[in-house]
Amino acid sequence: MPHTTAFARNQWYVAAFTHEVGRELLGRTVLGEPLVLYRTEDDGTAVVLADRCVHRRFPLSASRLDGDRIVCGYHGFTYDTTGSCVHVPGQKRVPRTARVAAYPVVEQDSFVWVWVGDPALADPTTVPRARHMDSPDWTTVSGMEPIDADYGLLVDNLLDLSHETYLHGGYIGTPEVAETPIATEVDEGAGIVRVSRHMDDAECPPFYARSTGIEGRITRWQDIEYHAPCLYLLHSRVAPVGVLPGADGRDPDAFHTEITYAITPSGDGHVYDFWAVSRDFAREDEEVSAVMRDFNHTVVMQDVDALNLLQRTLGTERGGYQELSINIDTGGLAARRILARLAEEGDKPTERVR
Ligand code: FES
Ligand SMILES: [Fe+2]
Repeated sequence: MPHTTAFARNQWYVAAFTHEVGRELLGRTVLGEPLVLYRTEDDGTAVVLADRCVHRRFPLSASRLDGDRIVCGYHGFTYDTTGSCVHVPGQKRVPRTARVAAYPVVEQDSFVWVWVGDPALADPTTVPRARHMDSPDWTTVSGMEPIDADYGLLVDNLLDLSHETYLHGGYIGTPEVAETPIATEVDEGAGIVRVSRHMDDAECPPFYARSTGIEGRITRWQDIEYHAPCLYLLHSRVAPVGVLPGADGRDPDAFHTEITYAITPSGDGHVYDFWAVSRDFAREDEEVSAVMRDFNHTVVMQDVDALNLLQRTLGTERGGYQELSINIDTGGLAARRILARLAEEGDKPTERVR
C-alpha cells in the first residue's frame, strides 16, 4: 500500500512563484487537477484554467497564446481568460458546453495561489501571508523541486527539524538540534501548528557560518509556524552565543532568516516543494545569495532524495505496518490530525470551512 494523505480540497494552494507565470504557458497539477497558467498581455493578470481541451483533451499548456486567448495546439479550439471557447475550426457555431474551468487566483507575497475546490467557498482574505517574500527589507532566494512522495511525508519532514542533525549534517545540522527538546503549540481552529526549538549555546553550522560570518558558537532559535495545509514558515534567529533581543524587542545584533515552504500536493504520491530563504542581513551581497541558494538547494535535495526513498520503501510494505512516535513527532502528529479534519470538511462541499 503506498502511503497517501487525503487532500483538503477547499483550501488555497501555491501553484507557482509569481515570476514563473508569464507569456509562456505553464502546466502544473494541483490535487490531481491539471492546470495551465499564464499572464494576460492586457493588464498582467494571472489566469489559471483547466489544462485539457474540451475537444479531445489535448493539454492547453502545450498549445499557444494568441493575445490573451489560448489556441489549442491540436485542432485550434480557442479559449478566452474565463475558459469559454470562443472559436472552433470549420464552423460558425460554438457548442454551448465548450468551456474549461477557470480557477480563483490570488497573487500575494510572490506566490500564485489557486483554489481547485468549490469556487463558491474561495475567500481571498483567507490566503495565509508570507510578507517577507516580497518585502524590501528582505532578500530572498528560492526554487521548487517536485518530489515523488505523499505530501504528508513532506509535512512530517518539515515539522520535525531534529532530522537536520542526521540528514543535513555538515550543512544546517549540528548535534544540538536533535538534542534540544521542542515546545509545540496547536491552534486547532485556525489550523496552525507551532514548534519551537531554542538552542542557547550551539555549534554554528556551515550554512550560517558562511552566510553570517559568525565565528564560534551561537544562540540559535527555530520557530516553526505551519498554516495547514500549504504554507510553512520557519523563523530562524542566529546570534553570537549569549546575544539576546533587547527588552524593547529590537534585535540588531542577530541574523534573521525566514525559511518558507509551500507544500502543494500535485497528485497521489506527488508533491511540489516550493522553497525560499529570506534574510535581513548582507542584503545586497550577491556572494551571500549564492551561498544561501546553493546550500539550501543541496539541503532540499537531501530531503527530496530521502522522501523519494521513503515513499518507494513504504510502497513495498504489505500494509498494516506500525510507526513508533516520540516527542520530536508532536508537531507532525498535530499536523496530520488537522489535515485529516480539513480533508473531511472539504468533502462536504456545501459547508463553509473557515
Ligand atoms: S484537442 Fe483541442 S482542438 Fe482538438
Ligand atoms: Fe530537511
